[in-house]
Amino acid sequence: MEQQFPLLPRHLAIIMDGNGRWAQARGLARVDGHRAGAEAVRTVVTECRRLGIPHLTLYAFSSENWNRPKAEVAALFGLLLDFLGVEVPRMEREDIRLMVLGDVDGLPLAQRTALRHGMSRTAHCRSMTLNLALNYGGRAEIVRAARRMAEAGIAPDGYTEERFADFLYTEGQPDPDLLVRTSGEQRLSNYLLYQCAYSEFYFTPVAWPDFGVEALHEALRVYAGRSRRFGKTQEQIDGR
Ligand code: FPP
Repeated sequence: MEQQFPLLPRHLAIIMDGNGRWAQARGLARVDGHRAGAEAVRTVVTECRRLGIPHLTLYAFSSENWNRPKAEVAALFGLLLDFLGVEVPRMEREDIRLMVLGDVDGLPLAQRTALRHGMSRTAHCRSMTLNLALNYGGRAEIVRAARRMAEAGIAPDGYTEERFADFLYTEGQPDPDLLVRTSGEQRLSNYLLYQCAYSEFYFTPVAWPDFGVEALHEALRVYAGRSRRFGKTQEQIDGR
């Protein structure tokens, strides 16, 4: 496995796009696409855990997704509840910690309760962290962090980039090394704006429901072949 992926991301972030188009292309309802998408979530979490990727973040529901038809929003939250019911006990067994990035208080009661339960049940888990971005928006996260920092009474000269990161939802976690977006779109859509400053981006035409172990491996192979310089020259990095 080490040979297959000489370099694994410490943090993989995914924008799971294309459930609706996947369903429409098969003459199915959009909800069927989301159901298939939830299966892809299980596959990808399992494989990331197996490979030893310590942080995985999935964009499951953006703050803009409330604008979708009511029935679709309800179906998405239903799938989330089903997912948590099955997966939280498994996550506990597999030592996977559940975290939520986003405004949990703005979620429906049943989902809020299940998420809080899942987070407390897995709070001790250390092998991997699964972040579900739910009711999440990147700009709102930055504004919230600034507000929380001011509320903490930090003086202006204490506003450093590192300190600021401690007030984001991802506090204590490394920035994403690799950001994957499925289904052909090539944009960030208000996702992890602060954290993705130096992330490698990988876009694939594969729709999220079809994003299985093979597609994940391909993304990881491409990532392993990238040269990350963080603004330095290759000579500086090589110590020449
Ligand atoms: C984008 O597809 C996907 C979403 C808005 C939601 C993602 C949700 C899931 C994968 C299922 C439930 C999640 C969990 C964690 C159980 P889209 O509908 O925007 O696709 P389209 O662009 O083709 O219309």
